[in-house]
Amino acid sequence: MPEMTKQRPKHLALNEIRLPLAGFASILHRVSGAGLFLLLPLLIWLLQLSLGSTQASTEMFTAVTGNWLVKLILLGLIWAFFHHFCMGIRILLIDIHVGVEKQQAHNSAVAVMVVSLALTAIFGLKLLGGF
Ligand code: HEM
Repeated sequence: MPEMTKQRPKHLALNEIRLPLAGFASILHRVSGAGLFLLLPLLIWLLQLSLGSTQASTEMFTAVTGNWLVKLILLGLIWAFFHHFCMGIRILLIDIHVGVEKQQAHNSAVAVMVVSLALTAIFGLKLLGGF
């Protein structure tokens, strides 16, 4: 029987595992997907208020979206959407065997992080009244 040269770990030392950037981005894809799903009621409610034609709904929309906590949640949702969207495109490309080499996969994970954070910064500035 061939001798085993590499000892398999008996336990996982989670603090010693170094997750590659692609793995980190992948976890964030799940987190962002869950966040987008769980906060759909808030978005639908805001959409309903924004489409309302009464003065009360307009005032309510302005008051809710003017609240700093709501702004913070919306900023998080903006990031979640862009990260999930960019990462989703990356995963779909990998599904059709585009960018599957280790270095390419690392580069595309970097691109996802950079593009999603840049788009979050632009739309976040708009949300916070920067322009
Ligand atoms: C905007 C365009 C979107 C694209 C291109 C996209 C793409 C994807 C892809 C490719 C997956 C599968 C990932 C895998 O195979 O591991 C996925 C998973 C998922 N998506 Fe999306 N998605 C989009 C929008 C959304 C939205 C709006 C929501 C929530 C309302 C959402 C929630 C989820 C969830 C919960 C998962 C499962 C995540 C997991 O189990 O890791 N996605 N998405």
